[in-house]
Amino acid sequence: MAADTALIVFGATGDLTQRKLYPSLYHLAKRGLLPKSFSLYGVSRKELNDADFRSNIERDIRMFAHGEIDQAAVDMVTSHAHYLSADLNHREGYERLNARLKPSTLRLFYLALPPRLFAPIVENIKTCGLGKALGASKSRVIVEKPFGYDFATAKKLEHIVSSAFDEKQIFRIDHYLGKESVQNLLTFRAKNSVFEDSLNRNAVASIHIDALESVGLEDRGAYYDGAGSIRDMVQNHLLQLVAFLTMDLPAKMTAEAEQSARAKLLATVRPHTSKGAIVLGQYAGYKSEPNVNPKSTTDTYSSLTFTINNPRWRGVPVFIRTGKHLKEKLTNVTVLFKPVRGEAPNRLSFRLDPHPEISLVLNVVQPGFTKKTDPAIMHYSRSTHYTEPPIGDYERLLLAIMDGDHSLFVSAAEVLSSWKAVDPFLKKAKTMKPKVYSKGSLAP
Ligand code: BG6
Repeated sequence: MAADTALIVFGATGDLTQRKLYPSLYHLAKRGLLPKSFSLYGVSRKELNDADFRSNIERDIRMFAHGEIDQAAVDMVTSHAHYLSADLNHREGYERLNARLKPSTLRLFYLALPPRLFAPIVENIKTCGLGKALGASKSRVIVEKPFGYDFATAKKLEHIVSSAFDEKQIFRIDHYLGKESVQNLLTFRAKNSVFEDSLNRNAVASIHIDALESVGLEDRGAYYDGAGSIRDMVQNHLLQLVAFLTMDLPAKMTAEAEQSARAKLLATVRPHTSKGAIVLGQYAGYKSEPNVNPKSTTDTYSSLTFTINNPRWRGVPVFIRTGKHLKEKLTNVTVLFKPVRGEAPNRLSFRLDPHPEISLVLNVVQPGFTKKTDPAIMHYSRSTHYTEPPIGDYERLLLAIMDGDHSLFVSAAEVLSSWKAVDPFLKKAKTMKPKVYSKGSLAP
């Protein structure tokens, strides 16, 4: 990790930075993992001074961090925080920022803004010589989803970002990759030989990815109404889960090899051609949410079927379901194996959230003079093995950015392939009216 690191946040007063970024920096400080010489620069048009910025950060930490507050760790973040009020469209602010940093400082540019605002920022970083010209050891950029609105807009966005930064300087965040339970999908496959030979079309009947949420829009009506569940969850998080489960494991798990294995898999994902391959829903009352069009046909629930068009998985349907305001929060990845001798199918399930678990349903013989079977569940629950809570997703991601480790980030090829996979569904969705479901229900 570089000794001297500056995190420069564009959009320093937004929702994401308040809920995730500042509390995660605090958690890192509490663990003693912030670089020794760390500084935080908030850049925004708003008129604020350093003292205001620091007290806002402290407020966010107190509101969103976990556990008892450690004042020394709070101070470690706030005492290194500075605020620059600047017009992001003008070079002057970037020059002022640069003048405050030592030439040796590693600059991490965090774009916590909607993508339509990226172009002038990236252009100014480039013309001030702070992007490609500095190289990956001095300059990196962090991009948050949404990475575009569809394949075409994602391509344009890629063009903008890559005009100022090389791929090895770009860290595209998909926070699912920072989850221990998601990373464990890969570790589980790589470190347990029993299943790997059965993860293919010969043994597997179907794959099921469920990301059910009990929460609703959480004040994000304006963004969500223009996105919907396919853009918000499927294109990114849930297709990544498909990749984690089904990609060919690289011989060596390096960041580059992992990214390229995921990209290779995602390039083969296509919508299933069956009639029921897309079902959309909208929860009752959605249209009267703040900042939502009263005539909106945006989906808050989608159930989509995909195929993986490669020799390992051809013909195995992948069912993805996600939605808001459902009965409970549950993120699950399940592999249903083909039944043998008329028995119930074996089922391997990974619960990713909440309370990570792994379970395997087997057929076991009933007692007595019989060969009849009953299903039995073998079960691992993280919380009964370990009391230590998982490291937060953003903590893990921030550390990886500082370390220059790309394995937890999404490459341009992955982004573009997953848009290609969902684009036909997005086109079809435009012609559909989602079914209304009641809040707190199971799913349409
Ligand atoms: C975000 C989506 O990317 O992921 C939200 O924009 C969604 O709408 C969230 O609620 C779900 O994340 P998690 O970690 O709670 O499953």
